[in-house]
Amino acid sequence: MAVLEIVVIAFWAMLPAYVPNNAAVLAGGGRPIDGGRTWGDRRVLGDGKTWRGTAVGILAGVALAAILTVLAPGVGDALGFAVPEFTPLAAVGLAGGAMLGDILASFLKRRTGRQRGAMFPGVDQLDFVVVSLLLTALLAFEWFRTWFTLEVLFVVVVITPILHVTTNMIAYKLGLKNEPW
Ligand code: CTP
Ligand code: MG
Repeated sequence: MAVLEIVVIAFWAMLPAYVPNNAAVLAGGGRPIDGGRTWGDRRVLGDGKTWRGTAVGILAGVALAAILTVLAPGVGDALGFAVPEFTPLAAVGLAGGAMLGDILASFLKRRTGRQRGAMFPGVDQLDFVVVSLLLTALLAFEWFRTWFTLEVLFVVVVITPILHVTTNMIAYKLGLKNEPW
């Protein structure tokens, strides 16, 4: 595979996992998932993980996967190589996994004494990738194996932190997010 092809496939395949976090930032608010409950003297998840943000995030990722699936044949023809069409299970794995990873990261942050919004280098940038890939492999193994070759996985691990840092910086500058991470 040519480098461009690998990068395009990695980005395209991960888009349904990239969008949920950003959609959640825009939609967040309302009742926190942990209902305000604490574990010891700390919140289980904190006010930054809400039902509305999570639901809108997953829906946005799945909707994007559906749109990309419609566009894939035309885009593939134009580029000269195939780009992924998403099965429903792959879409749910990518979008749901991204939100789940973000929630697990908040759980970890609270357990390690980090307040809401605190930085957790490494975890902040890769939590959602790891869990979305795991959940997708679990729910749609054949699809996962077809598209996430070792080269594609390598590119995903390299470009995701870069994209994450960039979009969060933009969201911060636009006043959509409280911290630039
Ligand atoms: N958000 C949400 N539900 C989610 C994820 C995010 O409502 N499942 C919204 C919240 O308004 C949150 C904002 O998006 O404040 C930014 O997300 P994130 O940086 O993940 O949360 P933090 O507020 O930084 O909290 P934490 O320290 O737990 O990550
Ligand atoms: Mg944060």
